[in-house]
Amino acid sequence: MTERLQGKRALVTGAASGIGRAVATRFAREGAQVVFADRDLPGARRAVAELPGTAVAVEMDVTDEDSVAAAHAQALAEVGPLDVVVANAGVQLFGQDAPVADLDLNVWRRTIEVNLTGTFLTVKHAVQAMRGRGGSVICTGSPTGLNGEGRDFTAYSSSKAGIHGLVRTVAAAYAHEGIRVNTVVPGYTETPLVTAISGDADSRAAIVARTPLGRPGTPADVEGIMVYLASDEAAFATGAIFRVDGGMTSL
Ligand SMILES: NC(=O)c1ccc[n+]([C@@H]2O[C@H](COP(=O)([O-])OP(=O)(O)OC[C@H]3O[C@@H](n4cnc5c(N)ncnc54)[C@H](O)[C@@H]3O)[C@@H](O)[C@H]2O)c1
Repeated sequence: MTERLQGKRALVTGAASGIGRAVATRFAREGAQVVFADRDLPGARRAVAELPGTAVAVEMDVTDEDSVAAAHAQALAEVGPLDVVVANAGVQLFGQDAPVADLDLNVWRRTIEVNLTGTFLTVKHAVQAMRGRGGSVICTGSPTGLNGEGRDFTAYSSSKAGIHGLVRTVAAAYAHEGIRVNTVVPGYTETPLVTAISGDADSRAAIVARTPLGRPGTPADVEGIMVYLASDEAAFATGAIFRVDGGMTSL
């Protein structure tokens, strides 16, 4: 490992599980001081306990602005001003999210609340923390926000399309302050989020068949682009979408 993030201070949301946990762990191994933020504090603590060094776990519910502000205050107190924030926490309500004619308003609201409003609040407080110094904000998007991949998941797909729009807007508004904002689009990535697919042989085969590289992604597949975007190597990258989706949305 090369320590490409030596001296950086980073906060990752959804760091108790899946992609967020892998990325936060990798950031720490690359030399960053990392805040593992999640509404699942015991899970964030377990992730931190596996690491040597100075990572910290904080409770943060991205749907609650007081909780987001408190987590940022704790991060400032424990590691100092943040250089990198990854807005990654998300939900996908399998078995409830549906084509629009069948979609219950509460399922729509719960999904938008975590994925889009939660990303907004995370990004808002990240930008406040970075003003005057610059920094890198990275949001986790989805193929479902780019094309019809999520046609049976109206709420989830719409929330992710909203994140892609939010990133462009914030990137444009704060580029002159040296705050870079980008989206990473993982493809089908086997984490606890998608057990409804990974646990069903037909569903899994169908989504792998729609992935030109011919396999599911793993959280490790997403780490490298996140390290790049967090680092100064990405100094000229902002407002962009970086796809690590096995070709799902490009081919
Ligand atoms: N797994 C995939 O195939 C895939 C593909 C594209 C995009 N994504 C996106 O990647 C991100 C991470 O997903 P994952 O697959 O690692 O899922 P995961 O379920 O393994 O992890 C999600 C984490 O987010 C946390 N979380 C949920 N609601 C929260 C809230 N209100 N406040 C704070 N934390 C909250 C959970 O506690 C959990 O630790 C999500 O935004 C997801 O939409 C996943």
